[in-house]
Amino acid sequence: MKFFIDTANLEQIKEAQALGVLDGVTTNPSLMAKEGITGQENILKHYVNICSEVTGDVSAEVISTDFEGIIREGEALAALHSQIVVKVPMIKDGIKAIRYFSEKGIKTNCTLVFSAGQALLAAKAGATYVSPFIGRLDDISTDGLNLIDEIRVIYDNYEFDTQILAASVRHTMHILECAKIGADVMTGPLSAITGLLKHPLTDSGLAKFLEDHKKGN
Ligand code: E4P
Repeated sequence: MKFFIDTANLEQIKEAQALGVLDGVTTNPSLMAKEGITGQENILKHYVNICSEVTGDVSAEVISTDFEGIIREGEALAALHSQIVVKVPMIKDGIKAIRYFSEKGIKTNCTLVFSAGQALLAAKAGATYVSPFIGRLDDISTDGLNLIDEIRVIYDNYEFDTQILAASVRHTMHILECAKIGADVMTGPLSAITGLLKHPLTDSGLAKFLEDHKKGN
């Protein structure tokens, strides 16, 4: 399972990269705004900065919602760096654009996916990644993990190459359950990744080992 960090915060990206378990980064317009990155020039510069901190794929989202606009923006984003994956919303023109990018060899991440039918369309259009937002489904009392399960079955039935990128991951249990179902990738906050480290028996066991070592010396 690949681990992506879902942030535009360079410090957190560096911290996750230093852990040695990071496979990529996802961003979105809200995450860029949260870091105060505004204006086209700054946004593009920030994507390049992120790419220079990590070795894997970096999703950069288009703002346009019409085919021509998505193509224009997506091609400019893809030209920025070889690690850029063009993030395209799950709308009619988005699907057309994903097909176009796929034929041009440009990687895509189909975002804002909330149903198995949408995921099926994204795979048929040739998306590199599909991003079902599990946390946002949980927020409206719908089982987000069930969606991951459904997509896994459909993609396996037809051997689609599109990778399931479980998005809107909020905590460690989301990561574990997605791993059990067989999501290819998860993207979440640094807190969910580092949360996997924690166990009270590890802490108490280590404290005892260190104490005993001191006694013996
Ligand atoms: C995915 O790529 C999105 O950036 C993200 O996972 C959305 O998560 P949120 O629901 O926590 O905003």
